[in-house]
Amino acid sequence: MFSIDRKDFGPQFTFGVATAAYQIEGGQRDGRGPSIWDSFSSTPGNVHNGDTGVVACNHYELWPQDLDLIRDGGFDAYRFSFSWPRLIPEGTGAVNQAGLDYYDRLVDGMLERGIKPYATLYHWDLPSALQDRGGWMNRDIAGWFADYAALIAQKFGDRLEATATINEPWCVAFLSHYLGVHAPGYRDKRAAARAMHHVLYAHGTAIDALRANGAKNLGIVLNLEKAEAASDKPEDIAAADFGDAVFNRWYLGGVLKGQYPERMTDWLGEHLPANYQDDMAVVSRPLDWLGINYYTRGLYQASSTPGVPAEQVKGPLEKTDIGWEIYPKGLSDLLVRVSNEYTKLPIYVTENGMAEAEGNDDPRRVSYYEEHLKAVLNARSQGADVRGYFAWSLLDNYEWAEGYNKRFGIVHVDYETQQRTPKSSYHAFQGLLHNTR
Ligand code: NOJ
Repeated sequence: MFSIDRKDFGPQFTFGVATAAYQIEGGQRDGRGPSIWDSFSSTPGNVHNGDTGVVACNHYELWPQDLDLIRDGGFDAYRFSFSWPRLIPEGTGAVNQAGLDYYDRLVDGMLERGIKPYATLYHWDLPSALQDRGGWMNRDIAGWFADYAALIAQKFGDRLEATATINEPWCVAFLSHYLGVHAPGYRDKRAAARAMHHVLYAHGTAIDALRANGAKNLGIVLNLEKAEAASDKPEDIAAADFGDAVFNRWYLGGVLKGQYPERMTDWLGEHLPANYQDDMAVVSRPLDWLGINYYTRGLYQASSTPGVPAEQVKGPLEKTDIGWEIYPKGLSDLLVRVSNEYTKLPIYVTENGMAEAEGNDDPRRVSYYEEHLKAVLNARSQGADVRGYFAWSLLDNYEWAEGYNKRFGIVHVDYETQQRTPKSSYHAFQGLLHNTR
């Protein structure tokens, strides 16, 4: 049980759970087109154990019971993502009616249960046909993405409580095009530079398309990590500054100030798209809210490898099952920093949670949530306008390159039987939200 009280957050505060289409849906039929995660995951060596999202949690069929779990947990909101290739199988052009029907059922199912739909347009499952044309490296993606955004606004806009364009643009751009860890798996500075700009430019064109088609309450979801130096040596402090620039300031500065940090424009140099400056007004279109996903800090030291400006080191703090340090203070520090230095927009913690070994009794996760919820309260007491908090994740699910091996759910999934079993952390939220503590 948590030792905090829902009342501490005030009556308007939104509590929710989050998921993403590729990680839970399965259901790769009824006209759904292939995505970059289908080909990436079926290529040996990319994903632990060769796991793919072919079945995942079969949310495509089991969504009614999953929505019941959200309602019974006492959550106000469900943050989910639309699958672009389910709706527009080739990425552009023909729309798949079965895809529209599925999301109609899902969104109506939320509303019938009193759950507010918080939608994400892009949570990493790019239609393969668009990757064939260069994907995020191609500037044309701004138009393809805007057309997809317009479709969502027209078909679902009046039923959505809030809509985010992109989930975690750092992952879309840098992790996927420079570090090669996620689809499409490039390790190329120019590819990364282009994706880093185009993902934010496409965010801006999608905001315009959503607004033009009547959608309301629009934002973006950034993953931020507090960047800290491994020692107080000047070279390690400089490495942490690079880490902060590539992870945090590129996205915060671009979206909220229309300006990229010089540390990064210098480093990317000639690889940035020509005249990218002309796009910055679109990149920084006014928003209604900002989403922040937070898991851990980044600890940096200078690298001895030529050309590598910084490297991350394992820190001394207690770690989750995926090896990430547990650092709730980083969440309050980031929220206060964003509020003081970047924006007075309402902020939502759109993801927070931990991987833990399999089991239904998860006391470490209960205390992880409790400490991070306290960090949110702490940030609020320092003036950060945090309006909501979403736990990642409702279900154990497909953890990308880690496959099914890493479990983030507050509900256990038995992948043999698709049986869902609420864990202690689910019950802790239930106690908090139904005030039965
Ligand atoms: C952030 C991503 O949005 C989500 O897809 C992922 O599963 C979690 N982090 C945990 O790594």
